[in-house]
Amino acid sequence: MTSRISKFYQRSPEERLEIVAESAGLSEEEQKILSGEKKFSLNQADHMIENVIGVLPIPLGLAVNFKVDGKDVFVPMATEEPSVIAAVSHAAKYSYSTGGFHTSYSGSIMRAQVQVTGLKDPYFASAKLYEAKEELLAFCNEQDPTLVSFGGGAIDLEVKLIQAEHEKMLVVHLIVDTKDAMGANTVNTMAEASAPLIEKITGGQVVLRILSNLADRRVVRARAVFENPFGEDREAADRFMYAYKLAAHDPYRATTHNKGIMNGVTAVVLATGNDTRAIEAGAHAYAARSGKYETLTRYEFGDNGNIVGTIELPLAIGLVGGATQSHPVAKTATKILNAQTSEELSGIIASIGLAQNFAGLKALATEGIQKGHMKLHARNMAAMAGAKDEQIDEVIRIAAENESYTFDGIKEIVKNLQS
Ligand code: MEV
Repeated sequence: MTSRISKFYQRSPEERLEIVAESAGLSEEEQKILSGEKKFSLNQADHMIENVIGVLPIPLGLAVNFKVDGKDVFVPMATEEPSVIAAVSHAAKYSYSTGGFHTSYSGSIMRAQVQVTGLKDPYFASAKLYEAKEELLAFCNEQDPTLVSFGGGAIDLEVKLIQAEHEKMLVVHLIVDTKDAMGANTVNTMAEASAPLIEKITGGQVVLRILSNLADRRVVRARAVFENPFGEDREAADRFMYAYKLAAHDPYRATTHNKGIMNGVTAVVLATGNDTRAIEAGAHAYAARSGKYETLTRYEFGDNGNIVGTIELPLAIGLVGGATQSHPVAKTATKILNAQTSEELSGIIASIGLAQNFAGLKALATEGIQKGHMKLHARNMAAMAGAKDEQIDEVIRIAAENESYTFDGIKEIVKNLQS
Protein backbone atom coordinates (compact mmCIF):
# COMPACT_ATOMS: atom_id res chain seq x y z
CA MET A 1 0.00 0.00 0.00
CA THR A 2 1.24 3.50 -0.77
CA SER A 3 0.01 6.64 0.97
CA ARG A 4 1.47 8.73 -1.82
CA ILE A 5 -1.59 9.62 -3.86
CA SER A 6 -1.33 12.41 -6.33
CA LYS A 7 -4.21 14.92 -6.48
CA PHE A 8 -6.13 13.08 -3.77
CA TYR A 9 -7.85 16.39 -2.99
CA GLN A 10 -9.35 16.47 -6.46
CA ARG A 11 -11.24 13.21 -5.93
CA SER A 12 -14.82 13.15 -4.66
CA PRO A 13 -15.46 12.12 -1.03
CA GLU A 14 -16.94 8.85 -2.33
CA GLU A 15 -13.80 8.07 -4.38
CA ARG A 16 -11.55 8.89 -1.43
CA LEU A 17 -13.57 6.61 0.82
CA GLU A 18 -13.33 3.84 -1.75
CA ILE A 19 -9.53 4.16 -1.87
CA VAL A 20 -9.11 3.98 1.89
CA ALA A 21 -11.76 1.27 2.28
CA GLU A 22 -9.82 -0.92 -0.08
CA SER A 23 -6.45 -0.34 1.54
CA ALA A 24 -7.77 -0.69 5.13
CA GLY A 25 -10.16 -3.54 4.31
CA LEU A 26 -13.22 -1.67 5.59
CA SER A 27 -16.50 -3.58 5.56
CA GLU A 28 -19.66 -2.22 3.89
CA GLU A 29 -20.94 -1.31 7.34
CA GLU A 30 -17.74 0.52 8.30
CA GLN A 31 -17.91 2.50 5.06
CA LYS A 32 -21.49 3.49 5.86
CA ILE A 33 -20.41 4.54 9.34
CA LEU A 34 -17.79 6.87 7.86
CA SER A 35 -19.99 8.27 5.09
CA GLY A 36 -22.76 8.99 7.58
CA GLU A 37 -25.17 6.66 5.79
CA LYS A 38 -25.27 4.74 9.04
CA LYS A 39 -26.00 7.50 11.49
CA PHE A 40 -24.56 7.91 14.96
CA SER A 41 -27.87 7.75 16.82
CA LEU A 42 -29.16 9.85 19.67
CA ASN A 43 -29.38 6.66 21.64
CA GLN A 44 -25.66 5.92 21.15
CA ALA A 45 -24.86 9.49 22.17
CA ASP A 46 -27.05 9.09 25.23
CA HIS A 47 -24.88 6.16 26.32
CA MET A 48 -21.75 8.28 26.13
CA ILE A 49 -22.55 11.51 27.96
CA GLU A 50 -25.31 13.09 30.03
CA ASN A 51 -28.35 15.19 29.11
CA VAL A 52 -27.98 14.46 25.41
CA ILE A 53 -30.00 16.58 23.02
CA GLY A 54 -28.16 15.94 19.75
CA VAL A 55 -24.88 15.21 18.02
CA LEU A 56 -22.33 17.57 16.46
CA PRO A 57 -20.86 16.29 13.21
CA ILE A 58 -17.23 17.28 12.55
CA PRO A 59 -15.69 16.62 9.12
CA LEU A 60 -13.36 13.63 8.96
CA GLY A 61 -10.61 13.89 6.34
CA LEU A 62 -7.62 11.84 5.36
CA ALA A 63 -3.99 12.98 5.35
CA VAL A 64 -1.93 11.36 2.61
CA ASN A 65 1.78 11.00 1.75
CA PHE A 66 2.77 9.79 5.23
CA LYS A 67 5.43 7.20 5.79
CA VAL A 68 6.10 6.59 9.48
CA ASP A 69 8.84 4.22 10.62
CA GLY A 70 8.96 2.71 7.17
CA LYS A 71 5.21 2.09 6.90
CA ASP A 72 2.87 4.04 4.63
CA VAL A 73 -0.22 5.20 6.42
CA PHE A 74 -3.42 7.12 5.70
CA VAL A 75 -4.16 9.34 8.67
CA PRO A 76 -7.78 10.16 9.55
CA MET A 77 -8.19 13.65 10.99
CA ALA A 78 -11.33 15.19 12.51
CA THR A 79 -11.29 18.97 12.35
CA GLU A 80 -13.50 21.94 11.62
CA GLU A 81 -10.51 23.99 10.39
CA PRO A 82 -9.76 24.26 6.67
CA SER A 83 -6.10 24.00 5.54
CA VAL A 84 -4.98 21.59 8.26
CA ILE A 85 -5.25 18.37 6.26
CA ALA A 86 -3.98 20.03 3.08
CA ALA A 87 -1.01 21.38 5.04
CA VAL A 88 0.09 18.10 6.60
CA SER A 89 -0.32 16.20 3.31
CA HIS A 90 1.72 18.88 1.55
CA ALA A 91 4.52 18.75 4.15
CA ALA A 92 4.59 14.96 4.15
CA LYS A 93 5.46 15.04 0.43
CA TYR A 94 8.78 16.72 1.28
CA SER A 95 9.63 13.97 3.76
CA TYR A 96 8.42 11.00 1.72
CA SER A 97 11.34 10.96 -0.71
CA THR A 98 13.86 11.10 2.15
CA GLY A 99 12.35 8.12 4.00
CA GLY A 100 9.46 9.66 5.89
CA PHE A 101 9.20 10.12 9.64
CA HIS A 102 11.15 8.16 12.24
CA THR A 103 9.93 7.96 15.80
CA SER A 104 10.79 6.76 19.29
CA TYR A 105 8.72 6.36 22.44
CA SER A 106 9.62 6.49 26.11
CA GLY A 107 6.89 3.98 27.04
CA SER A 108 3.26 4.22 28.15
CA ILE A 109 4.14 5.43 31.60
CA MET A 110 1.52 7.48 33.45
CA ARG A 111 1.51 8.88 36.95
CA ALA A 112 -1.21 9.24 39.55
CA GLN A 113 -0.87 11.74 42.35
CA VAL A 114 -1.95 11.00 45.91
CA GLN A 115 -1.77 14.11 48.07
CA VAL A 116 -1.02 13.64 51.77
CA THR A 117 -1.70 16.50 54.20
CA GLY A 118 -1.60 17.09 57.97
CA LEU A 119 1.91 15.69 58.42
CA LYS A 120 4.09 16.97 61.24
CA ASP A 121 7.07 14.96 59.91
CA PRO A 122 6.84 14.99 56.07
CA TYR A 123 10.47 13.93 55.50
CA PHE A 124 10.10 11.00 57.88
CA ALA A 125 6.80 10.01 56.24
CA SER A 126 8.44 10.19 52.82
CA ALA A 127 11.18 7.77 53.94
CA LYS A 128 8.53 5.35 55.23
CA LEU A 129 6.70 5.46 51.90
CA TYR A 130 9.84 4.51 50.01
CA GLU A 131 10.38 1.61 52.43
CA ALA A 132 6.85 0.40 51.71
CA LYS A 133 7.28 0.75 47.95
CA GLU A 134 6.96 -2.96 47.08
CA GLU A 135 3.89 -3.36 49.32
CA LEU A 136 2.26 -0.31 47.73
CA LEU A 137 3.02 -1.38 44.16
CA ALA A 138 1.71 -4.89 44.83
CA PHE A 139 -1.47 -3.42 46.31
CA CYS A 140 -1.92 -1.17 43.25
CA ASN A 141 -1.41 -4.10 40.90
CA GLU A 142 -4.10 -6.10 42.68
CA GLN A 143 -6.53 -3.44 41.37
CA ASP A 144 -5.90 -4.30 37.70
CA PRO A 145 -4.92 -7.94 37.11
CA THR A 146 -5.78 -7.62 33.41
CA LEU A 147 -3.23 -4.85 32.90
CA VAL A 148 -0.66 -6.90 34.83
CA SER A 149 -1.41 -9.92 32.62
CA PHE A 150 -0.49 -7.75 29.60
CA GLY A 151 2.84 -6.88 31.20
CA GLY A 152 1.76 -3.50 32.58
CA GLY A 153 0.97 -2.23 36.06
CA ALA A 154 2.43 -0.05 38.80
CA ILE A 155 6.21 -0.05 38.41
CA ASP A 156 7.59 2.69 40.60
CA LEU A 157 6.89 5.28 43.21
CA GLU A 158 8.13 8.84 43.63
CA VAL A 159 7.47 11.01 46.65
CA LYS A 160 7.56 14.77 46.27
CA LEU A 161 7.51 17.38 48.99
CA ILE A 162 5.45 20.43 48.18
CA GLN A 163 5.83 23.60 50.22
CA ALA A 164 2.32 25.09 50.36
CA GLU A 165 1.41 28.27 52.26
CA HIS A 166 1.02 26.79 55.70
CA GLU A 167 2.52 23.34 55.56
CA LYS A 168 4.76 20.93 53.75
CA MET A 169 2.63 18.35 51.94
CA LEU A 170 3.62 15.07 50.38
CA VAL A 171 2.53 13.94 46.96
CA VAL A 172 2.98 10.29 46.19
CA HIS A 173 3.39 9.61 42.47
CA LEU A 174 2.32 6.12 41.51
CA ILE A 175 4.14 5.36 38.28
CA VAL A 176 2.14 2.98 36.11
CA ASP A 177 2.82 1.31 32.78
CA THR A 178 -0.61 1.43 31.12
CA LYS A 179 0.50 -0.35 27.90
CA ASP A 180 -2.02 0.28 25.10
CA ALA A 181 -4.62 2.02 27.28
CA MET A 182 -4.66 5.76 27.87
CA GLY A 183 -4.74 4.65 31.47
CA ALA A 184 -6.78 7.33 33.26
CA ASN A 185 -9.25 4.85 34.74
CA THR A 186 -6.52 2.45 35.79
CA VAL A 187 -4.32 4.97 37.55
CA ASN A 188 -7.26 6.76 39.16
CA THR A 189 -8.52 3.45 40.53
CA MET A 190 -5.06 2.64 41.91
CA ALA A 191 -4.76 6.10 43.46
CA GLU A 192 -8.15 5.92 45.14
CA ALA A 193 -7.69 2.36 46.36
CA SER A 194 -4.23 2.96 47.83
CA ALA A 195 -5.24 6.08 49.78
CA PRO A 196 -6.07 4.27 53.07
CA LEU A 197 -2.76 2.35 52.92
CA ILE A 198 -0.85 5.57 52.27
CA GLU A 199 -2.63 7.20 55.23
CA LYS A 200 -1.69 4.25 57.41
CA ILE A 201 1.97 4.41 56.36
CA THR A 202 2.31 8.18 56.71
CA GLY A 203 -0.17 9.03 59.47
CA GLY A 204 -1.46 11.86 57.27
CA GLN A 205 -4.74 12.56 55.53
CA VAL A 206 -5.11 11.92 51.83
CA VAL A 207 -6.98 14.57 49.82
CA LEU A 208 -6.49 14.39 46.02
CA ARG A 209 -6.16 11.06 44.23
CA ILE A 210 -5.96 11.63 40.49
CA LEU A 211 -3.72 11.14 37.47
CA SER A 212 -1.39 13.87 36.25
CA ASN A 213 -1.90 14.96 32.66
CA LEU A 214 1.72 16.06 32.53
CA ALA A 215 2.66 12.71 31.00
CA ASP A 216 6.39 13.40 30.97
CA ARG A 217 7.26 9.69 30.97
CA ARG A 218 5.06 9.04 27.95
CA VAL A 219 7.03 11.11 25.50
CA VAL A 220 7.19 10.55 21.78
CA ARG A 221 9.82 11.95 19.46
CA ALA A 222 9.71 12.15 15.68
CA ARG A 223 12.20 13.39 13.12
CA ALA A 224 12.12 13.94 9.38
CA VAL A 225 14.31 15.31 6.64
CA PHE A 226 12.28 17.74 4.54
CA GLU A 227 13.65 17.87 1.02
CA ASN A 228 14.82 21.38 0.17
CA PRO A 229 11.48 23.19 -0.18
CA PHE A 230 12.95 26.48 -1.39
CA GLY A 231 15.28 25.43 -4.21
CA GLU A 232 17.88 28.12 -4.87
CA ASP A 233 15.93 30.67 -2.85
CA ARG A 234 18.33 30.99 0.11
CA GLU A 235 16.44 33.99 1.36
CA ALA A 236 13.24 31.94 1.78
CA ALA A 237 15.18 29.24 3.63
CA ASP A 238 16.61 31.88 5.97
CA ARG A 239 13.15 33.33 6.48
CA PHE A 240 11.93 29.85 7.48
CA MET A 241 14.65 29.62 10.13
CA TYR A 242 13.94 33.16 11.32
CA ALA A 243 10.29 32.23 11.72
CA TYR A 244 11.25 29.14 13.73
CA LYS A 245 13.76 31.04 15.85
CA LEU A 246 11.19 33.60 16.91
CA ALA A 247 9.11 30.71 18.27
CA ALA A 248 12.19 29.24 19.94
CA HIS A 249 12.81 32.47 21.84
CA ASP A 250 9.46 34.19 22.30
CA PRO A 251 6.53 32.67 24.19
CA TYR A 252 3.98 34.80 22.28
CA ARG A 253 5.09 33.22 19.03
CA ALA A 254 5.76 29.80 20.60
CA THR A 255 2.11 29.62 21.66
CA THR A 256 0.88 30.11 18.10
CA HIS A 257 3.58 27.82 16.74
CA ASN A 258 2.48 25.07 19.14
CA LYS A 259 -1.17 25.80 18.40
CA GLY A 260 -0.43 24.96 14.78
CA ILE A 261 1.19 21.69 15.86
CA MET A 262 -1.90 20.87 17.90
CA ASN A 263 -4.11 21.57 14.86
CA GLY A 264 -2.67 18.35 13.49
CA VAL A 265 -2.22 16.41 16.72
CA THR A 266 -5.69 17.11 18.13
CA ALA A 267 -7.39 16.22 14.84
CA VAL A 268 -5.97 12.68 14.94
CA VAL A 269 -6.56 12.39 18.68
CA LEU A 270 -10.22 13.33 18.14
CA ALA A 271 -10.61 11.05 15.11
CA THR A 272 -9.38 8.10 17.17
CA GLY A 273 -11.72 8.88 20.08
CA ASN A 274 -8.93 9.87 22.43
CA ASP A 275 -9.04 12.63 25.04
CA THR A 276 -8.11 15.86 23.25
CA ARG A 277 -7.99 17.94 26.44
CA ALA A 278 -5.56 15.56 28.13
CA ILE A 279 -3.26 15.81 25.13
CA GLU A 280 -3.51 19.59 24.89
CA ALA A 281 -2.92 20.13 28.62
CA GLY A 282 0.04 17.72 28.62
CA ALA A 283 1.63 19.23 25.52
CA HIS A 284 1.48 22.82 26.75
CA ALA A 285 2.67 21.95 30.26
CA TYR A 286 5.54 19.98 28.70
CA ALA A 287 6.40 22.97 26.51
CA ALA A 288 6.74 25.04 29.70
CA ARG A 289 8.64 22.47 31.76
CA SER A 290 11.85 24.51 31.83
CA GLY A 291 9.94 27.39 33.42
CA LYS A 292 9.72 29.17 30.07
CA TYR A 293 7.12 28.26 27.43
CA GLU A 294 9.01 26.78 24.48
CA THR A 295 8.42 25.17 21.10
CA LEU A 296 7.66 21.49 20.71
CA THR A 297 9.56 21.35 17.41
CA ARG A 298 13.13 22.21 16.39
CA TYR A 299 14.65 22.83 12.95
CA GLU A 300 18.16 22.79 11.57
CA PHE A 301 19.63 22.87 8.09
CA GLY A 302 20.58 19.47 6.67
CA ASP A 303 22.50 18.69 3.49
CA ASN A 304 21.66 20.25 0.10
CA GLY A 305 19.30 22.84 1.51
CA ASN A 306 17.20 20.17 3.22
CA ILE A 307 15.56 21.10 6.48
CA VAL A 308 15.71 18.60 9.31
CA GLY A 309 12.93 18.82 11.86
CA THR A 310 12.16 17.16 15.18
CA ILE A 311 9.24 17.14 17.56
CA GLU A 312 9.00 15.97 21.18
CA LEU A 313 5.79 15.89 23.17
CA PRO A 314 3.92 13.74 25.67
CA LEU A 315 1.02 11.76 24.21
CA ALA A 316 -1.27 9.93 26.60
CA ILE A 317 -3.33 8.13 24.01
CA GLY A 318 -4.79 4.65 23.97
CA LEU A 319 -5.80 2.05 21.46
CA VAL A 320 -7.98 0.12 23.85
CA GLY A 321 -10.86 1.32 26.00
CA GLY A 322 -12.90 4.49 25.94
CA ALA A 323 -14.42 6.07 22.87
CA THR A 324 -11.68 4.53 20.70
CA GLN A 325 -13.69 1.34 20.87
CA SER A 326 -17.18 2.50 21.76
CA HIS A 327 -17.62 5.25 19.16
CA PRO A 328 -18.22 3.61 15.77
CA VAL A 329 -16.58 6.39 13.72
CA ALA A 330 -13.53 6.57 16.01
CA LYS A 331 -13.25 2.78 15.93
CA THR A 332 -13.32 2.75 12.14
CA ALA A 333 -10.90 5.68 11.87
CA THR A 334 -8.52 3.83 14.20
CA LYS A 335 -8.79 0.75 12.01
CA ILE A 336 -7.61 2.84 9.02
CA LEU A 337 -4.42 3.68 10.91
CA ASN A 338 -3.67 -0.01 11.35
CA ALA A 339 -1.57 0.79 14.44
CA GLN A 340 -0.92 -2.27 16.59
CA THR A 341 0.18 -0.44 19.71
CA SER A 342 -0.29 2.92 21.36
CA GLU A 343 3.42 3.44 20.67
CA GLU A 344 2.78 3.14 16.93
CA LEU A 345 -0.23 5.45 17.08
CA SER A 346 1.78 8.00 19.09
CA GLY A 347 4.52 8.00 16.46
CA ILE A 348 1.98 8.74 13.73
CA ILE A 349 0.40 11.55 15.74
CA ALA A 350 3.77 13.17 16.50
CA SER A 351 4.65 12.98 12.80
CA ILE A 352 1.42 14.75 11.93
CA GLY A 353 2.29 17.49 14.45
CA LEU A 354 5.72 17.98 12.91
CA ALA A 355 4.31 18.01 9.38
CA GLN A 356 1.68 20.57 10.33
CA ASN A 357 4.29 22.83 11.82
CA PHE A 358 6.68 22.52 8.88
CA ALA A 359 3.89 23.43 6.45
CA GLY A 360 2.82 26.36 8.64
CA LEU A 361 6.33 27.79 8.84
CA LYS A 362 6.91 27.26 5.12
CA ALA A 363 3.78 29.24 4.29
CA LEU A 364 4.49 31.91 6.90
CA ALA A 365 8.04 32.35 5.63
CA THR A 366 6.87 32.86 2.05
CA GLU A 367 3.44 33.96 0.86
CA GLY A 368 1.78 33.94 4.32
CA ILE A 369 -1.06 31.65 5.26
CA GLN A 370 -4.05 33.76 4.29
CA LYS A 371 -3.99 33.17 0.54
CA GLY A 372 -4.04 29.38 0.81
CA HIS A 373 -6.30 29.42 3.83
CA MET A 374 -8.94 31.67 2.28
CA LYS A 375 -8.88 29.61 -0.90
CA LEU A 376 -9.55 26.44 1.07
CA HIS A 377 -12.09 28.28 3.21
CA ALA A 378 -13.88 29.56 0.08
CA ARG A 379 -16.34 26.65 -0.18
CA ASN A 380 -17.30 27.21 3.42
CA MET A 381 -17.71 30.95 2.79
CA ALA A 382 -19.82 30.28 -0.33
CA ALA A 383 -22.18 28.14 1.77
CA MET A 384 -22.27 30.81 4.50
CA ALA A 385 -23.07 33.43 1.85
CA GLY A 386 -26.14 31.42 0.90
CA ALA A 387 -24.92 29.57 -2.22
CA LYS A 388 -26.90 26.43 -2.96
CA ASP A 389 -24.92 23.15 -3.10
CA GLU A 390 -25.07 23.09 -6.89
CA GLN A 391 -23.79 26.72 -7.08
CA ILE A 392 -20.67 26.24 -4.94
CA ASP A 393 -18.36 25.01 -7.74
CA GLU A 394 -19.37 27.97 -9.88
CA VAL A 395 -18.75 30.43 -7.02
CA ILE A 396 -15.26 28.96 -6.54
CA ARG A 397 -14.57 29.12 -10.28
CA ILE A 398 -15.44 32.82 -10.42
CA ALA A 399 -13.46 33.57 -7.24
CA ALA A 400 -10.42 31.82 -8.78
CA GLU A 401 -10.86 33.84 -11.97
CA ASN A 402 -10.99 37.04 -9.88
CA GLU A 403 -8.03 35.76 -7.80
CA SER A 404 -9.88 36.94 -4.73
CA TYR A 405 -11.21 34.90 -1.84
CA THR A 406 -12.53 37.55 0.53
CA PHE A 407 -15.92 36.95 2.15
CA ASP A 408 -17.25 40.20 0.65
CA GLY A 409 -16.11 39.07 -2.79
CA ILE A 410 -17.74 35.67 -2.37
CA LYS A 411 -20.98 37.28 -1.15
CA GLU A 412 -21.02 39.47 -4.24
CA ILE A 413 -20.54 36.45 -6.53
CA VAL A 414 -23.37 34.56 -4.81
CA LYS A 415 -25.61 37.63 -5.05
CA ASN A 416 -24.92 37.99 -8.79
CA LEU A 417 -25.54 34.27 -9.40
CA GLN A 418 -28.84 34.42 -7.59
CA SER A 419 -30.13 37.69 -9.01
C1 MEV B 1 -3.59 28.50 12.49
O1 MEV B 1 -4.64 27.71 13.00
C2 MEV B 1 -2.24 27.96 12.91
C3 MEV B 1 -1.04 28.84 12.55
O2 MEV B 1 -1.23 30.15 13.10
C4 MEV B 1 0.16 28.20 13.18
C5 MEV B 1 1.42 29.03 13.07
O3 MEV B 1 1.34 30.27 13.06
O4 MEV B 1 2.50 28.41 13.03
C6 MEV B 1 -0.86 28.98 11.06
